[in-house]
Amino acid sequence: METKSRPAVIWMHFQECTCCSESFLRSTHPLVADLLLDKLSLNYTETLQAASGHMAEKSLHDTLENHFGEYILLVEGSVPVGEMAACCCIGGKSAEQIIQEVAEGAKAIVAWGSCASNGCIQAAKPNPTRATPIHKILKNKTIIKVPGCPPIGEVMAGVIVHLMTFDRLPELDRIGRPKAFYSRRVHDSCYRRPNYDAGLFVESFDDPNAKQGYCLYKVGCRGPVTYNACGITRWNGGTSFPIQSGHGCIGCSEADFWDNGPFYQH
Ligand code: SF4
Ligand code: SF4
Ligand code: F3S
Repeated sequence: METKSRPAVIWMHFQECTCCSESFLRSTHPLVADLLLDKLSLNYTETLQAASGHMAEKSLHDTLENHFGEYILLVEGSVPVGEMAACCCIGGKSAEQIIQEVAEGAKAIVAWGSCASNGCIQAAKPNPTRATPIHKILKNKTIIKVPGCPPIGEVMAGVIVHLMTFDRLPELDRIGRPKAFYSRRVHDSCYRRPNYDAGLFVESFDDPNAKQGYCLYKVGCRGPVTYNACGITRWNGGTSFPIQSGHGCIGCSEADFWDNGPFYQH
């Protein structure tokens, strides 16, 4: 990896909350500073770049021209389409126009988080902006989906490191998620699983069973239907994950999880 030149990266931000970026910035292995400062050339991103206005636009267009066919495109956020396209505009263009333009010369395209992968909260009923995940717009492109609201920082960094190291896409499952991180349910790697198997359940939050660390299935945990690496990789440098803090998984890496509610019920 050290001998290769730093790959050019474009990171677009459409309809999103920026927590995917926040999560990425907290990756500890690899350290995100190593990636951003030594390994990548992050040529355009609305949140982290020093440039703004015309200078930022110039950097984007220079990358599109000078690195056509070579740059990695990272997309955070959903895209409002059709008559609602004006709900998200940058530099005088709609996100719907921009995504087509920036995808054209991308070597690899990554959908960060549930917004770009599934539409997430903006696409929840009644989806007032016609928020659309990017694979429904870029129909002829392979999209690496990294769902989660947000995804785990180390998973995001791991996907980028794979692209840089092997210069090819990671192995994906049938809906486009990297198998290395999304081939198992949260339930499959949950440390509370022996309680589930033994029929030991929390019946309500703060009951004595909760204090015993019993399984959270009866208070709405969606770990059995959620594919993510939380039980293995955990969060904040491997410190913990929602279930370890006493709250069931809400299925944040699954499509339509906002509409599959209410939370706390099956
Ligand atoms: Fe924010 Fe979640 Fe969308 Fe990421 S997927 S930008 S965390 S709303
Ligand atoms: Fe499965 Fe959730 Fe129970 Fe863990 S807490 S064993 S993920 S149902
Ligand atoms: Fe999300 Fe469930 Fe992990 S809510 S963070 S997929 S434990």
